[in-house]
Order: sequence, then structure tokens, then C-alpha cells
Amino acid sequence: MKNKLLLIWLVCLVAFAGLSLRAENIPDLFLHDGLSLNGEWKSIIDPYESGFYDYRRDQRDLESNPSRAEAFFLDVKPANPGERVEYDFDTAPTLNVPGDWNTQRPELLYYEGSMWYRKQFDFAGTGKGQRVYLRFGAVNYRADVYLNGKKLGVHVGGFTPFTFEATKLLKPGTNSLVVKVDNQRAKEAVPTLNTDWWNYGGITREVKLVAVPEHFIADHRLALESETARTISGWVQIAGAGAGQSVQLEIPELHEKLSARTDDSGHAKFSFTPAKLQLWSPDMPKLYDVIISSGDDVVQEPIGFRTVRTQGKEILLNGKPVFLRGICIHEEFPLHGGGRVNSPEKARQLLLWAKELNCNFVRLAHYPHNEAMTRLADELGIMVWSEVPVYWTIDWTNAETYSNAQSQLTDEIQRDANRASIIIWSLANETPVSEARTAFLSRLAARARSLDATRLLSAAMEKHAKPGTKNVNIVQDPLADIVDVVAFNEYVGWYDGLPDKCGKVTWEIPYNKPAFISEFGGGAKQGLHGDKDQRWTEEFQADLYRQTLPMLDKIDGLVGFTPWILVDFRSPRRPLAGIQDGFNRKGLISSEGVKKEAFTVLQEYYRKRAQLSEH
Ligand code: GCU
Repeated sequence: MKNKLLLIWLVCLVAFAGLSLRAENIPDLFLHDGLSLNGEWKSIIDPYESGFYDYRRDQRDLESNPSRAEAFFLDVKPANPGERVEYDFDTAPTLNVPGDWNTQRPELLYYEGSMWYRKQFDFAGTGKGQRVYLRFGAVNYRADVYLNGKKLGVHVGGFTPFTFEATKLLKPGTNSLVVKVDNQRAKEAVPTLNTDWWNYGGITREVKLVAVPEHFIADHRLALESETARTISGWVQIAGAGAGQSVQLEIPELHEKLSARTDDSGHAKFSFTPAKLQLWSPDMPKLYDVIISSGDDVVQEPIGFRTVRTQGKEILLNGKPVFLRGICIHEEFPLHGGGRVNSPEKARQLLLWAKELNCNFVRLAHYPHNEAMTRLADELGIMVWSEVPVYWTIDWTNAETYSNAQSQLTDEIQRDANRASIIIWSLANETPVSEARTAFLSRLAARARSLDATRLLSAAMEKHAKPGTKNVNIVQDPLADIVDVVAFNEYVGWYDGLPDKCGKVTWEIPYNKPAFISEFGGGAKQGLHGDKDQRWTEEFQADLYRQTLPMLDKIDGLVGFTPWILVDFRSPRRPLAGIQDGFNRKGLISSEGVKKEAFTVLQEYYRKRAQLSEH
């Protein structure tokens, strides 16, 4: 009760001070230059959260006078030789940002809990009418953020960007930015307690300080309405503006220069039909530099224009049927110590391996990957399936869990809405059919459609053995009525029998919609060779692929698949010593970056498919 009253009192105080504790997502801050805060940060590991809670478990930043000696976010030094201060960022070890902490220090590999990060930076001072924001690319999982000892706010969710306005708390000279990062898993969280991937903790993506004019370009959206009419329409959102503010949109290569005025809510609309527009496609990933300006503010980014829709059991890209030659990817890089992808170079390498496989599509599993990944996919001509971590047994009836999932979905779509490469938003993976689950996911679907009507919706569903039959697999899920693409994971030959079973199995997918296999595959320890019947050998995995591909070719309405997975990845659920050693070994490339035999099997299959198709 006492805490509740203190919280209400603090929220009033913060509101009075014009601060908001809730993080925002202002997409176009990504496009504004700023002061990078990447690099070495001081870090204090705090498994008992003693810098956050006092010994009575009262939250220190809710106290009117938090202890200088123990409240880490104050970042103080003893004022005199006698003063007791029980932490010191200056003498603490460092952690690199962006990056997970698990692969930076051996003792942190399995660490799940709280870690305090501190960065000091110099700031000249806020110019007249200027607003200054702190932008985080992502922090896994919960971030409590403080500037100069004062709380900026909290963000929950490990894979999407967030910002805080720092204008009022910044001071000229040296500033102290402290972030408490907590990656403890929880039943009501998204994802929940159990995942087949490593729960990497940390400030995993870039951090920057961005100064903008009072009225600045906060968001924009441009999309091709139809591949025949070739009309591009969209809008620009100017933060802080009312009606009448002038906004310019320019695409020099198309000789397009347009101007519009904002309405009462700072929104300016555009619609134009450029001559000679080259559409974006995997074969021709054409991007146009788009320049948006308003007042003193300018942003620029490369955007591709294409359409995607379904027609019966087909997916049409720019009006033509497309077959998705895909692969699943986790946001983890095998080399240089492993861990989360924390540079464009590592993202590029993963996508180049997919290209080498003759892929034109990737499923970024099971959460939004970093911006570099989706922007590189635009550039390299790789279509993308992007997903929110609504994975396995989420707490379906918990309202907090739903709003968390909806925020992650909203932030994902707002971040990447202008990426031509993204053609599918995925709502979930392998979630057990129940009324509560389907209600949860239909709300998410409605939300996704309200945010973006230009892309397809899907989810990785499950197949089941048809009751009373032998070797008949069926996909029957109320969610399939809600999404555009009926996608499901199948592991015939790995979790379900042996590879020979592929030849016996038939499929029933009773929907007049495109069918897609979002996962299949099996494990192999790279370098382990033997008979094809010996599990964990490269020969077994290759044989599984050789038997699976013809089985899938027989599926009516099949529009593609993304085998599980491009690269072996860390998973706490994979202890088999000498084989897995903490890695899921279903990769076509090992955790040392070495290709397995099955890589060539799929590569060859896709080469032939590519020859057959248009895209
Ligand atoms: C599941 C799941 C993956 C997992 C894979 C596996 O289908 O979606 O996250 O890693 O199967 O078991 O290897």
C-alpha cells in the first residue's frame, strides 16, 4: 500500500515536472544524427537488486530521499573521507555497448538478473527551442533509465527501440546516464519463461543522444498503392506541430518534389504517381533516396516500392506469383565470441550466407531483429518475415501480457513500416490452440492490420496427425482463418519419426490460402560423419533434407519454406555433451561458421527453384 501511494505521488511529481515515465517510440529519431553513446560502459552486476531495492524490498527510486550510500542510480562519490558509499562505477569493470553481457565475460555466460550500466558523456547545453532525446535500439529485457540521478523512465521488451525526452534533465558539462538492465524471465513476460534460445541480457543495440528542433520529423510512411496505378501515398508526422506547418518530400531520382501542410495533429499527407518507377523485388532491389524536410529539420532514407498480396493460394509480389526460398535466422553471430548481432557487418554476413544458399527470403526468428538487418535486406533484395516473441505458452489471460505484446508489435511495425523487404508480420510461434490464445492473437492481428494494411499476416502454427489416420498430417487452427498465409512448423523425420517417414506422409491444409512451412529440419554436429541412419551426423541431416524437399513439393498451395535454421545457436535447452554442448545444432552452418553437407542440398534445390521462378 505504502509503495502504491509513493508511486502515485511520484507520478504526480514527474507529471508536474513535465516528464513521462513511459518510454516512447519515435521512429525517425533513428534517421537523425546524434551523439553516439556506444562503446565501453561501466557495469555493476547486482543479482539481489540491492542498488534498486532497500533491505525491506522498497523500491529506492520511489523514495523521496534515496540512500546516497546504496542507490546506484545516483552515481555519487563519497563527499568526504568518512562518507559510506557502497558502489563505485569508476572502479567497476566495463561492458561494450551494443552487445550482450553473456559473451563478454565468462562468468556472465549463464547470468540472468540485474546489471547496472553507467555512461558519462559531455554535453554543451541545449540550444534555443531544442529538444533532446535518448534513443535505445533495444535493451533485453527491462530497462530502468536514469539521467543525472533522476529517473527518465522504464521500458519493457527486449527487441524494439525506445526513447526518452532528456531535455529537462540534461546539464552542460559531464552527464551521468545509468541504466538498470534486468533480463530475468517471468511467466507473464513476452517471451515467457521457456524459450529455445539464449536469454542474452544487456544493452544489445546502439544508444544515441539526439537533439532536434522544437517541431521535428517524428515519423513517416510511404507505400505503393498498386503496381498498376503506380501511385505512392503516405504521410509525415511533425512532432510538436499544429496545423499549417510546411513539409517537403523529395525523391531526386524520380524528379519528384512535393510540398504539403500539416493538419491540427501535425500530420501532412502526400500522394503522387511518379513516371518510370522501378519496383523493388529480389532480382531488382531498387531503392530511392527520399528526403523529407520541415523547417530546420531534414531526414533522408532509401526506400523501395513494391506491392504484396495473396490471391487464392498464391502470394503475389508486384502482381506476380512468388515462391519464398527461405531460411530461418536467429539474431546471433557464431564467430568472434558469438552472442547477439551487434554490428551491420555481422548482419550482412548472415544475409550473405542466406544469399549463398540461393534464398530470396528469410524468417527473422522469433523477435524483431536489429534495424541493420531489415535495412540490409532491402539493399540485398531479400524478402523478410518479421515476428514478435509471442512464443509457446504465453500468459494469454493476463492483460499486462497482452498490452506488452501489443506494444512490441506496434513498435516493430512503426520501426520497419518503410522496409520494402518485409512482406509478412508474424504474430506468434507454436502457440497451443485455446480460446484465450486465439482471442489474444486475433486482437493482435486487428492491431497489426490497423497499423499496416500493406503487408501480409501470418504465424507459425503447428500440424497434427489426423485422428484415425496413419501418416496424414493436418493443419487445423482457428488462427488460420485470421491470418493471410497459413504457416506451420513440421519436423517429420526428426521429432516425428525418421527421415524415411517423409515419403509416406500426406498433408491436409483445408484453407484457400497460401501454405508455408515456417520450420523443418534436424540437428547435426558439424564434422561428425557416419551412416545416414546415425542421428547427429551430417549425413543424417542431409538425408532428412533430401527426403523432406520432395514431400513438401507435393503440398498443394505451397508458396515456400524457411528451414530451421541457418546457423547453430545457443540454447539452454540443449545439454547433450559432445554434440550440443549448449547449442541447438539444427544449423546448416556450425557455431564455428563451417557449412554442413545439408547446406549444399538446400542450396542446389533452391538453385533449381530459382531457375523455374520469376523472382
Ligand atoms: C521449434 C521452435 C524453435 C526451436 C525448434 C527446435 O519449433 O519454434 O524455436 O528452436 O523448434 O526444436 O529446434
